[in-house]
Amino acid sequence: MERIQIIDAKNHVGQTVQIGAWVANKRSSGKIAFLQLRDGTAYFQGVVVKSEVAEETFQLAKNLNQETAVLITGEIREDTRSKFGYEIGIAGIEVVGESHEYPITPKEHGTDFLMDHRHLWLRSSKQHAIMQIRNELIRATYEFFNQNGFVKIDPPILTGSAPEGTTDLFETNYFDQKAYLSQSGQLYMEAAAMAFGKVFSFGPTFRAEKSKTRRHLIEFWMIEPEMAFAHQEESLEVQEQYVAFLVQSVLDNCDYALHVLERDRNVLEKYTQLPFPRISYDDAIELLKKNGFEGIEWGDDFGSPHETFIANSFDRPVFILNYPKAIKPFYMKPHPTREDVVICADMIAPEGYGEIIGGSERATDYEYLLEQIKTHGLDPEEYAWYLDLRKYGSVPHAGFGLGLERTVTWLAGIEHVREAIPFPRLLNRIYP
Ligand code: 4AD
Ligand code: MG
Repeated sequence: MERIQIIDAKNHVGQTVQIGAWVANKRSSGKIAFLQLRDGTAYFQGVVVKSEVAEETFQLAKNLNQETAVLITGEIREDTRSKFGYEIGIAGIEVVGESHEYPITPKEHGTDFLMDHRHLWLRSSKQHAIMQIRNELIRATYEFFNQNGFVKIDPPILTGSAPEGTTDLFETNYFDQKAYLSQSGQLYMEAAAMAFGKVFSFGPTFRAEKSKTRRHLIEFWMIEPEMAFAHQEESLEVQEQYVAFLVQSVLDNCDYALHVLERDRNVLEKYTQLPFPRISYDDAIELLKKNGFEGIEWGDDFGSPHETFIANSFDRPVFILNYPKAIKPFYMKPHPTREDVVICADMIAPEGYGEIIGGSERATDYEYLLEQIKTHGLDPEEYAWYLDLRKYGSVPHAGFGLGLERTVTWLAGIEHVREAIPFPRLLNRIYP
């Protein structure tokens, strides 16, 4: 007998097969028992009819506890009443691993309780659907950048540099030296772009931010492309094409997950339309002021109510261009005709999900960068290698970073970024 996965049930209609699964839920009457089965690939129903199986099989089915691991044998049938479309008519059940008093019952649980049981919570259908969307974004990321001639380069995780400012660094001992967990691979990706032209990285990054918002993780995954011989406008085009590609990939390959999450496909369809609108930082400030946001002044960074208002003025993700130099990192290219702004953009997702991309054109001038490094209180000796890139064939280059979890949160349509990563590291949480 063939052992199959639930996801492949459609290819085995009418056949008797074996499936290794867990019992997610069950209900039964005197004559029939319905088991909600999951095997990691999908969920579907198993039906045990008293008159069709041995009495002990029926009794076993009726008494299976939630999350018991079982080997099921039976015949795959179509099931037009379920979204999944197939079920198994169970002939035999073998218990592989018992389960007693599984803590996550079908009733409602509080967030803290669920987060304490994250190792088990991952099994539930909503969490499973979110992780499938995450997996699709990872898969589509590699597809997009490989198709477009980018080389994957892995920057180090233990570093001596602080591209995004020194306030939120995780410090650690590197033998008799200080080291930090990477905030961003960008500076290394700039070196890589000078070696390979178009590159991208994808890895974990760390920010010791004392933020407890629904958008902040302490450990998150970032995709950081970098392009040599490219200006900001070209980078913006790559960004919008990449994000539209991610949305389309989720639409194409995550139909069942979107259904579980009750995410409206029509809403997502709009986000595949290019180009994405662009608004300058200056105009965004004016827009906010005209609409009753008191207290925001030119020079301030946006808070999430500001970002949400700006995003709601458009029907798809929007770029906010050219922020004040004073609130951005040291490496950004100065504006050619204005002292006070730099050539950069943040991409703000619709529906209140906030910034998903930060990017910029990079300063290419050695003297300018050296001065910026000093102004930001960084040690030029630690950045000597980075400055070298401006000594030996410096060229215009631009890049960006997309936060994976914020993008998952947005496309899955969920409340909080903590559900977009398998084991979230939060301000007050490193368990499990
Ligand atoms: O805007 P950020 O800080 O940009 C950089 O790190 C650049 N060096 C990227 C580059 O140009 N190569 O971060 C980029 C993105 C943000 O837009 C956001 O999506 C995500 O990373 N991000 C976070 N996601 C979750 N939790 C946090 N604490 C995050 N901080 C940034
Ligand atoms: Mg940013």
